[in-house]
Amino acid sequence: NNHLVIMAGGVGSRFWPMSTPDYPKQFIDVLGCGRTLIQLTAERFKGICPPENVWVVTSEKYAETVKEQLPEIADDHILREPCRRNTAPCIAYVSWKIKARNPKANMVVTPSDHIVMDVTEFQRVIDAAMKFTADSDAILTLGMKPTRPETGYGYIEADLTIPSTSNKEVYRVYSFKEKPDLETAERYIKKNNFFWNAGIFVWNVSTVVNALRVYQPAISKIFERLLPYYYTEQEQEMINQNFPLCENISVDYAIMEKADEIFVFPSDFGWSDLGTWGSLHGNLPKDAHNNTQIGQNIKLYETRNCVIHTTQEKKVVVQGLDGYIVAEKDDTLLICRLSEEQRIKEFSAE
Ligand code: GDD
Ligand code: MG
Repeated sequence: NNHLVIMAGGVGSRFWPMSTPDYPKQFIDVLGCGRTLIQLTAERFKGICPPENVWVVTSEKYAETVKEQLPEIADDHILREPCRRNTAPCIAYVSWKIKARNPKANMVVTPSDHIVMDVTEFQRVIDAAMKFTADSDAILTLGMKPTRPETGYGYIEADLTIPSTSNKEVYRVYSFKEKPDLETAERYIKKNNFFWNAGIFVWNVSTVVNALRVYQPAISKIFERLLPYYYTEQEQEMINQNFPLCENISVDYAIMEKADEIFVFPSDFGWSDLGTWGSLHGNLPKDAHNNTQIGQNIKLYETRNCVIHTTQEKKVVVQGLDGYIVAEKDDTLLICRLSEEQRIKEFSAE
């Protein structure tokens, strides 16, 4: 009765030009390992959720790519959003759909653009987490030990004094803060009871639906009204008409910052959000001069602390750079200081 929901509708704008709105990072072999990020994500859950219980929620225009990359997923388990409304409407759509057929379903919701080094430990944690939420109305988050005052993540403040009675590794959450400012993040990481939110949520389907009803009544009403159309031929048309009415809001703001029954499972399975070129540099192997090279035909001379990405056809030669991103794809070449990478969003929009 375990369901897996893979959210794959993001555009990965900070990873340009490797990631583009037409072909975002979750569909790319970012690590150069032969598997794309969404394929690695699906594989990680093998043995926990049977293939017939896997759902992918994505934008209409990525549906074909999802089918190509995850051929084991049935077409009617690929939910197509007509426009981007962030993760709260995405989760609402799939939750009501699962609940319509299976009101007792238990589920794990995951992003599609992360890496996990220790898959065995990951599976142990997910398995225990799903046992925890099977018959409770808890919202369970996975907490990662923060290593820097990252402002792009959510922070979980845990009550570490007494663990939960049903699982000694799980703790109650005092508060959840999505994307704090730098000052706040610096204050958080000095304490030992703050964790990064990995963006993976474990809960049963009635818990999600109830939380949405309480904290997001407008979004809830939209999907509740569509209930008679789920699993019929009119579903897509009705979704196309009504989905755009949803507020654009992430689940972190929509539910996590508001709900009471939140728990955290502090865990360590070598998690990392491949959000930016810098995070790729931090996670991938480096050569003797601290360069990360992705691509076949790269030649570096007197070059240090760089990330170089090239598509296979092109030879890239770099001399004398320190601390730069050099990335080329199709008709675009980016050369940008790693320290300025937050501006890539701006550049790609021009
Ligand atoms: N279907 C769908 N529709 N998926 C979406 C949409 C959408 O409109 N927007 C984003 N996603 C997918 C992305 O593809 C990604 O896999 C996942 O949802 C998370 O979205 P991000 O846009 O990457 O979120 P974030 O990185 O800013 O923040 C989240 O993840 C952090 C950890 O990586 C939050 O949950 C933070 O609290 C968390 O720390
Ligand atoms: Mg992200």
